[in-house]
Amino acid sequence: MERIAVCPGSFDPVTKGHLDIITRASKLFDRVIVLVSKNMMKTRACFSPQERKSLILSVTKDFPNVTVDIFDGLLADYVRDAGAIAIVKGLRAVSDFEYEFQMALANRELYAGAETVFLTTTAENMYLSSSVVKQIAAFGGDISHFIPPEILDFIEKRLLEERLS
Ligand code: PNS
Repeated sequence: MERIAVCPGSFDPVTKGHLDIITRASKLFDRVIVLVSKNMMKTRACFSPQERKSLILSVTKDFPNVTVDIFDGLLADYVRDAGAIAIVKGLRAVSDFEYEFQMALANRELYAGAETVFLTTTAENMYLSSSVVKQIAAFGGDISHFIPPEILDFIEKRLLEERLS
């Protein structure tokens, strides 16, 4: 049986931190579905779901067992329908824990057929998030340390337009 994991997130935009988690997940499972999902608490996105999917596709093109999808509904429903056995999430600083723990428990309540698996971030990605990247870019800072090189130009250009609008 193929062991499928779903790696959900807002990915607005995908960062080197996300890519590290996706890469490591791709070594643990037969197939990883990176799922561009909706976080109800994040109301204002910079990139459309389709753009976020394209950016993730660009940075995962060399991984044969990684696919990318967009889903607007409940994560637990997607995971069940995909036949996945795990939800993979990256865990950063202590502040992530309570929120992630709550989501893991809720997802298990909704669908007990998949385990939430937390991969701890590397030390260099400990404080990296899409929001931090957007803030740095908004103030004209250098985001090249945080964004995979092949998508850097597109993201910088877009975040600059956002800043000027
Ligand atoms: O990258 P994020 O914003 O931390 O990811 C959070 C996300 C999108 C994975 C989470 O909000 C989610 O699972 N959304 C899908 C809707 C859902 O199932 N919500 C209930 C989770 S308990």
